[in-house]
Amino acid sequence: MNIPFHKPILPNSLDEIYSDSIKAGWLTTGSQVKKFELVLSKFLNYKYVVALNSCTAGLHLGLAANRFKKGDKFLAPTLTFVSTIECGEYQGMQPVLIDSKKNGFTLDLNYLEDEIKKKSDVKAIIPMHYGGEVVDMDYIKVLAEKYGLFVIEDAAHSLEKSINKGINNYNNHAIVFSFYANKNITSGGEGGAFATNNNKLANMVKKLSLHGITKDGWNRFKSFGKWEYDITELGYKYNMTDISASFALWQWRHLKDWQIARRKIVDMYIDGLKDIEGIILPEVPKDHAMHLFVIRLKTELWNISRNDFINKMNQKGIGLAVHYKPIHQLSYYKKIYNFKMKDFPRANHLYNSIVSLPIYPTLKNKEIEYVIESIKDIFYENSI
Ligand SMILES: Cc1ncc(COP(=O)(O)O)c(C=O)c1O
Repeated sequence: MNIPFHKPILPNSLDEIYSDSIKAGWLTTGSQVKKFELVLSKFLNYKYVVALNSCTAGLHLGLAANRFKKGDKFLAPTLTFVSTIECGEYQGMQPVLIDSKKNGFTLDLNYLEDEIKKKSDVKAIIPMHYGGEVVDMDYIKVLAEKYGLFVIEDAAHSLEKSINKGINNYNNHAIVFSFYANKNITSGGEGGAFATNNNKLANMVKKLSLHGITKDGWNRFKSFGKWEYDITELGYKYNMTDISASFALWQWRHLKDWQIARRKIVDMYIDGLKDIEGIILPEVPKDHAMHLFVIRLKTELWNISRNDFINKMNQKGIGLAVHYKPIHQLSYYKKIYNFKMKDFPRANHLYNSIVSLPIYPTLKNKEIEYVIESIKDIFYENSI
């Protein structure tokens, strides 16, 4: 059997995706982006949504719009994708990395306040909802209010569940999503969105996403549009195209069904794997977007490493992934910040033991069963 780690879902005919306006010739930011932003705004219950070409862009723009600068610091998990951290680097900011919590994959909230007190110039917190496991945003809000911090949630994995956590009425707050190829929905390979209830912040992010221009292309080039424009900020080229938004709107129609399909896969994995002594299963409560299904190997019960386990699964035709190599172990960040391994024991342990299994709506029952049986076989052949 050949089961890739991820398989994108496409319609039978691309005609189903592309809107009349695209067929008529408007390809970049225009009516389809507007439509997608409105759909998201309603679903997420945020007043303002800016569609972008990536989640990384959203993270960066959130910090840029706040005019954070060299020397300012931000708190973020070490167990995350590099985007959560590099967005601060773009501004010259310095990451304060936080180890993982005791039973779970997100950052340990117990360290946050100490770090804020210990370090001067902490200006922002970037919590990340790992795999769809949500961070306690009520607590983050309390801290943010107490110390006047900007909060930008990295919800790249958690479109369906990172909503209405009480923090959305904290004015100094935003949340960003990814529509990258392997996310729960994609806007055709790359894409992201920035959401907030802060009107000023939303306007600035919108402007910065398109060169800092006073008028976008849609308003300049449409019939009777005025060509004249000005540039009032140093901006970027981060706008979403109508081609991408059309793709996302097509995928959007399947969001609910795909969540149901993910839940079925999660239930099958949990049921099929629960008696294997050598692994720890994730907790997948209702408020989980189920973007990832991450098992942990109890390394002391195996006579092979996590990497050997992955190789053996690969040999059986099953694609797996590891989310993530912690930031403090990455060469670039290690070199500039001299992070110490001993400061992140939980993330180190997780990194050596985690494996992400395939989880996508088109995975068939017999494929899920094959993954389960393969894990069982490999454990029984390689257990101590
Ligand atoms: C946790 C996390 N944050 C941010 C990103 C960046 O998303 P994008 O590729 O849309 O910039 C990713 C992408 O995989 C991610 O996993």
